[in-house]
Amino acid sequence: MKTVEIAPSILSADFARLGEEVAAAERGGATLLHCDVMDGHFVPNLTIGLPVIKSLRRATRLPLDAHLMISEPGLYADKFVEAGAAMVSVHVEADPHLHRTLACIKGAGAAAGVAINPATPLGALEEALAYADYILIMSVNPGFGGQKFIKTSLDKVRRLRRMIDERGLQTRIEIDGGIGAENIAEVVAAGAEIVVAGTAVFGAGDPANAVRELRDAAAQWV
Ligand code: DX5
Ligand code: ZN
Repeated sequence: MKTVEIAPSILSADFARLGEEVAAAERGGATLLHCDVMDGHFVPNLTIGLPVIKSLRRATRLPLDAHLMISEPGLYADKFVEAGAAMVSVHVEADPHLHRTLACIKGAGAAAGVAINPATPLGALEEALAYADYILIMSVNPGFGGQKFIKTSLDKVRRLRRMIDERGLQTRIEIDGGIGAENIAEVVAAGAEIVVAGTAVFGAGDPANAVRELRDAAAQWV
């Protein structure tokens, strides 16, 4: 049976109690921690940066998955690895030099991902697919937690799965936005292996239990 990783997004956590929130998600069976970095330029919101990644690195054993929603990500990507991220993704829409940026992330010792917005066609990944360790399919427009899942993302995941399998690649598929216990089985059935969940984990009061519910629901994918 395929393993599904649940990556809680700290965007919806209580930042004043971040350590406790993350520990609760870890107790519930989270295997990654998704950290949303926004610059107020590529997306219309501001969140966290390198100092928070550094502090989290000391606060949890979970691998940190940095999702860079920033312009010119090539200028910063390796700094996130140095700060402690085990995975770093940059947006295909934000970087005309993806080959270089992905090589730089890998060279610094992390897994390199390419994130893609809902309205960007998969064709934009045609070449980059072979250089990426994972693709992050956005199932909402990046910038905010708590948005509604965009249904056409399911077919996009299926088509990406086919592209990867046809080429015999090992590229993993991560999906991010609007996912909860009610639709996680569908996204897993479509071919996603890493599922990000913010509101569904930290919006309900008991992150440990919320992660357990997501894992149980994901297991119903067949
Ligand atoms: C949105 C972020 C997401 C967000 C997901 O731009 O990339 O990671 O935190 O939040 P939910 O699960 O609430 O849609
Ligand atoms: Zn994200």
